[in-house]
Amino acid sequence: MDLKKVSRQHLEMDRFFTGGFTIKGRQSSPDRAGDDKDAEEVIRQLEDIAQQVRQCHKCELASTRTNAVPGQGNPQARIFFIGEAPGADEDAQGQPFVGRAGQLLDKIITAMGLRRQDVYIGNILKCRPPDNRDPRPEEVISCLPYLQQQIELINPEIIVALGAHAARTLLETNKPIGQLRGRFQQYYPGLGKAAIKLMATYHPAYLLRSYSHENRARVWEDMKKVLTELSLPVPDH
Ligand code: URA
Repeated sequence: MDLKKVSRQHLEMDRFFTGGFTIKGRQSSPDRAGDDKDAEEVIRQLEDIAQQVRQCHKCELASTRTNAVPGQGNPQARIFFIGEAPGADEDAQGQPFVGRAGQLLDKIITAMGLRRQDVYIGNILKCRPPDNRDPRPEEVISCLPYLQQQIELINPEIIVALGAHAARTLLETNKPIGQLRGRFQQYYPGLGKAAIKLMATYHPAYLLRSYSHENRARVWEDMKKVLTELSLPVPDH
């Protein structure tokens, strides 16, 4: 591996996602909080779910985790970022996206003119699979109800599915991420509930592994669509 090239690419990516952007305005709407529930009730119920997650023993991952990672962010978020599962750093700290992929996600959020505290961040699985192996179907089945309840409570306007696993799980499809990203899809929260727009994009860990201008530009194109859909300013690059 050409280390110099890799570090130059990472520096370039850093600059792209952080360079020259100011945080413009408050990005979440104070009047929104999961349907008609008031914000305090949403916070209370989210904490309730977090407690259930921390005590959960529905699958084998409970025996290998250090900390469960329920999710984090603004209970009134307009955007809910959803990844696959906690990694080693997240397992150690009990918070989502705090390792290298998380640092890149932070840069993407900053490039969008937002702050981490404006959005909500969670995962399909709340516990780390050993050695970061792929989630197993029975684990997803056990864990998904927590995420479904979080989505219902937060009621985001847009879900951003980070990577193939999150996108396929939420959209109930096996299509490759290349076919799912780039245009809005519909996430169906359940019978009688309105669909939520979902933008799938590449996982930050994939961007770190497979750095290319094209992949970076694709993620930025996807995020610009999210901002436009929310009538938020789109920072130039
Ligand atoms: N990758 C994920 O999908 N989620 C995290 O929380 C961290 C890394």
